[in-house]
Amino acid sequence: MKPILTLFTLLFSLNAYANQSDLIEKQPSLPSVEKIEGSDSLFPYELSTIPSTPFGDKVKRGYQLMTNSQSMRNKYVFNEQNCTNCHLSSGRLPNAAPMGASFFAYPAYRSKNKHVNSYQERVQGCFRYSMNGVMPTTDSDVLVDFSAYAYWLGVTTLYNMHGLENLSVPELSDKQLLAGGKVDDFPFHPELQKALDKVGSTVETRAKMPGRGFPKLDKPKLTPDYERGELVFRKHCAACHGSDGQGKEVAGIKSLPPLWGKNSYNWGAGMHKFSTAAAFIYENMPLGKSVQLTKQQAWDVATFMNSHERPQDPRFKNSIAETKKIYQSKDSAYGETINGVTLGSSPLEEHHQLN
Ligand code: HEC
Ligand code: HEC
Repeated sequence: MKPILTLFTLLFSLNAYANQSDLIEKQPSLPSVEKIEGSDSLFPYELSTIPSTPFGDKVKRGYQLMTNSQSMRNKYVFNEQNCTNCHLSSGRLPNAAPMGASFFAYPAYRSKNKHVNSYQERVQGCFRYSMNGVMPTTDSDVLVDFSAYAYWLGVTTLYNMHGLENLSVPELSDKQLLAGGKVDDFPFHPELQKALDKVGSTVETRAKMPGRGFPKLDKPKLTPDYERGELVFRKHCAACHGSDGQGKEVAGIKSLPPLWGKNSYNWGAGMHKFSTAAAFIYENMPLGKSVQLTKQQAWDVATFMNSHERPQDPRFKNSIAETKKIYQSKDSAYGETINGVTLGSSPLEEHHQLN
């Protein structure tokens, strides 16, 4: 059951536009959680156990889209990222925002705008911001396939957490998949339901599955610093991500992703926030963990990385100042001038104007 974290993701292998809901405009950060150690049981079943059925085919397609998201280039994806660049091990790694845990956290109600955020809307958000792209429409196969994959990962992770081997995964309708798993009377396999009842697991418990999101990272002692961050970058990151942060190609494929610039995530993505990037980096980088950065180094390098220009925030309104006021938090360098460059001055791309 041990996962194999591959060092490099090898890549093989028009549409109407979705309505912008208020929620997609204002995607909340994930709640930060304490890290759970000894997390071997937090992995899903082996992918080889996905059945060869029409339902299993949706799950397999979801896996492929997650891993080789570039297959959707210029349709839904407008940068050089693959979902697995941030949701590591194709969305299976605990503490790297795993997809399985996320499935049971939606639909999520937000009192702030009285809107219920379905699973498909959360996925759409990552298309718009992290992939600097166009959101697949709510009836597209892409969203169903992602949701099927996330559901399969989530349920089989629950099986492993409760020591249940070789259980089949009940099939869900597309509608159920798109909504997400945080619903009463969710149709679990009877064996799993028994195990959940035994330990008193509720809808709320499952919405906070251990390993979800990125573990909370305390604020460092010293104010995070660009120059110290640059030294960390040169020493621990540049070999893979390039001294210019633009990533690297291996055998003609961009296996090492860019960290800023036009092919990276945009100014609306969760990763552009210092705190989110610091937590991700502390837990997951350098990939393979040849060294463990200190918390201070993680904050410093996150500050350096996110103080570079990247694609415009797709919610751009009239000016940098106005956009900053409405959409950006203090947790971002948007609008600051660093080394003579005003961050956030990239033009709004055409595909965002339609999306
Ligand atoms: C550049 C990094 C990055 C890429 C690429 C990326 N994401 Fe994300 N994703 C994040 C971050 C960061 C969060 C958490 C957001 C926050 O806390 O602000 C997130 C959150 C999510 C969530 C919600 C997780 C939860 O537990 O609630 C889903 C679902 C998701 N992403 C799906 C996707 C899919 C599908 C793709 C590819 C189409 C993708 N992401 C690409 C960084 C990324
Ligand atoms: C051994 C090579 C290697 C090193 C060293 C490394 N990374 Fe990465 N990094 C990767 C790979 C590969 C990915 C994509 C993971 C995947 O697709 O499985 C990645 C993904 C990322 C991401 C996700 C967002 C994106 O743009 O794709 C960030 C942020 C990141 N690295 C930052 C860093 C920082 C900061 C350092 C230095 C502390 C660092 N990395 C060191 C290989 C490396």
